[in-house]
Amino acid sequence: MRILSGVQPTGKLHIGNYFGAIRQFVELQRDAGNDCYYFVADLHAITTIKDGNELRANAFMVAADFIALGLDPARSVLYRQSDVPEVTELAWMLSTVTPMGLLQRGHSYKDKVARGITPNHGLFAYPVLMAADILIVRADRVPVGKDQKQHLEMTRDMAAAFNQTYGGELLRVPGELILPDVAVVPGVDGQKMSKSYGNTLEIFGPEGELKKRVMSIVTDSTPVAEPKPTRGNALYALLKVFTPAGEWNETKRMFTEGGSGYGDIKKRLFARILETFGEARARREQLERDHGYVENVLRDGAGRAREVISRVMADCRKACGLGWV
Ligand code: ADP
Ligand code: TRP
Repeated sequence: MRILSGVQPTGKLHIGNYFGAIRQFVELQRDAGNDCYYFVADLHAITTIKDGNELRANAFMVAADFIALGLDPARSVLYRQSDVPEVTELAWMLSTVTPMGLLQRGHSYKDKVARGITPNHGLFAYPVLMAADILIVRADRVPVGKDQKQHLEMTRDMAAAFNQTYGGELLRVPGELILPDVAVVPGVDGQKMSKSYGNTLEIFGPEGELKKRVMSIVTDSTPVAEPKPTRGNALYALLKVFTPAGEWNETKRMFTEGGSGYGDIKKRLFARILETFGEARARREQLERDHGYVENVLRDGAGRAREVISRVMADCRKACGLGWV
């Protein structure tokens, strides 16, 4: 099974990203029957980030974060989208079989416009580039969150339209693989953790900063001696994410029995976070001192991805009548 997914380098990875996506990416590569491709979607990110130095630094950061969190370059092909420029060529080919109406119905595009963002053509055509990412490696499955479901449906429509126009099975129509319905990880203010809400706990931030953020998790004023509410309590939900099932009952009692103050519970959460990500954080520090390694992984990944991609592109160019046969 060929698996592909991409993440935009638009900010620092947070705990929600790990439990909601990256952990599954790492698990998928452990199955020897899977052939995994993961990429840093920098061509997508230029629809919003307009500072070249910032984007390049972000792309490096996301790649290093992925490697530190367990994406293994020996098992997965890890690459930067812009190192595979063929993807923009396929996107152009696809755009010529994509009805305007299909893109005009895009939820993500419509939401952004509704929020007052002046759309550029790149934002409008985003689903076409995303379809090209997927179709160019002949992915069978694309693990993504529910918010990306419509983009996958559009990808299937575009593949079918291209195949119908040019005949045959030039492009593989992918199935979906919506990530398991993992609990939404709340941020320090109790809303969904998201970089756009500024309520994140960053996986690789400095320890002192992380501690401060954990201590700032919003709680109520239940006195130490009394039981604490569990519903709608961000601290409770976060601790649950980090506590092994066998230890949950004991941890839960800190809430249900009274006698523990929120300060102590927060310290426990902080300790759990460091335990969970300790190794990844150490590896990430090493990678920060070894940019060359990360750059080589990406270069090598792009080379491996292009072995598949060049065959797909040769077929597509031939079918469209582009270049000499
Ligand atoms: P953000 O909301 O911070 O911008 P993205 O939209 O870039 O995050 O999400 C990248 C991946 O992380 C997606 O697969 C998404 O489903 C997952 N994810 C993001 N936030 C959370 C969260 N709070 N809980 C669970 N998964 C999340
Ligand atoms: N659109 C995805 C997001 O915003 C990122 C992405 C780009 C992607 N191309 C992709 C995901 C191809 C899966 C497959 O999260």
